Amino acid sequence: MEQILIKHARLVNEGKIYEADLLTKGDRILKIGQNLSSPGAEIIDARGQYLLPGVIDDQVHFREPGLTQKGTIATESKAAVAGGITSFMEMPNTKPPALTQTLLEKKYDIGARDSMANYSFYMGASNDNLEDVLKTNPTHVCGLKVFMGSSTGNMLVDDETTLEALFSKVNMLIATHCEDEATVRANYEHYHSQYGDDIPFRFHPAIRSAEACYLSSSKAVSLAKKFNARLHILHISTGRETKLFESYKPLESKSITAEACIHHLWFSDQDYPEKGSTIKWNPAVKTAKDREEIWEALLRGSIDVIATDHAPHTLDEKNNPYSKAPSGGPLVQHSLVAMFEFFHQGKITLEMLVEKMCHNPAILFQVKERGYLREGYFADLVLVDPNQPWTVNKQNILAKCGWSPFEGTTFKSAVTHTIVSGKLAYIDGAFDQSIRGQRLEFER
Ligand code: DOR
Repeated sequence: MEQILIKHARLVNEGKIYEADLLTKGDRILKIGQNLSSPGAEIIDARGQYLLPGVIDDQVHFREPGLTQKGTIATESKAAVAGGITSFMEMPNTKPPALTQTLLEKKYDIGARDSMANYSFYMGASNDNLEDVLKTNPTHVCGLKVFMGSSTGNMLVDDETTLEALFSKVNMLIATHCEDEATVRANYEHYHSQYGDDIPFRFHPAIRSAEACYLSSSKAVSLAKKFNARLHILHISTGRETKLFESYKPLESKSITAEACIHHLWFSDQDYPEKGSTIKWNPAVKTAKDREEIWEALLRGSIDVIATDHAPHTLDEKNNPYSKAPSGGPLVQHSLVAMFEFFHQGKITLEMLVEKMCHNPAILFQVKERGYLREGYFADLVLVDPNQPWTVNKQNILAKCGWSPFEGTTFKSAVTHTIVSGKLAYIDGAFDQSIRGQRLEFER
């Protein structure tokens, strides 16, 4: 069986950083210790590098089937692997959307065929597919996605009876997109009547407003409390929403959890004049104060995981005036090195970075035997050189759409190696394209 021996790495795991060797065998971690040797193993000298559990990204849009001009599972999983993401959970707003078990399983077939990283696909909810939703097997599927605000794709669930039925009957994790539709529509009409389709992008956070987010997130929390559901609110974008979440409970015992995304941690409304459409996301990037409060919530434990909401659109699509420019942007290649930038600035420790990007997604979704550097666990591993500066440009972007909101940004750190389920998928810019990830399993 294939073996990889990583020597002299600085392991970041379970609240500690220490130097050790790590040996894999097949798809598992065989041993972690000092002075390991194994004849025949492929050796990686990782002196000066950090060894982390592979990142688990719980929110990506890889666009297949149906929207493959924006991205495919093959192209976007490759970009993810280059970014140190070894497992992803993908959203149902594809074309057709994943609203039946058959359509959902077709996505798993594409994952098995094309994905370089380990994968799971969310079941989607609509106003009228409850019966299909209830057939989902929670040990094989990461969760159910409910759009409680409209975004890319027509997947808005706004029927009150349906929402109550979903929150009361679904026995798996419900991940929600929260923005109050009526508020967003009224705000949009206000600006549209002044500017027509060409609304300046700086008004995006006034349209997709903090009020819209709070109304919808607080409604999701009330529904979850009323029906004792397992709720995970995605991409928290305002300080006010962070007060909805508890910080003192251990993650294992929380029934309501929250996610922060890279763009809400990095950008603020001050960036719209320069970045325009490239930072148009739903929910919108909001004020610098919101960003600071999201950071505080993350550090105190009210927000549990960091993800990307990787949502590529073509540059042609993004170059439209406001009303026609879709929301979302590619992030999987840059999320880990962006978080390392915050580590260099002293904003987050590496131990906490690993907790939020690797351990906590595994705990929160009850992912089977991943998310940690532990003997017997799957060998999902990433090596990061903290002192290897590089600049994002059109030539080194791997997402199929070929642009990034980070273009021109220099990151101090680089991902040098990514190992997916025991296989070396990425080394310093080169891929083994034959490698395929595994379907995630859940211990529920
Ligand atoms: O900005 C976004 N884009 N937010 C979402 O929730 C959906 C995503 C997309 O699929 O384009």
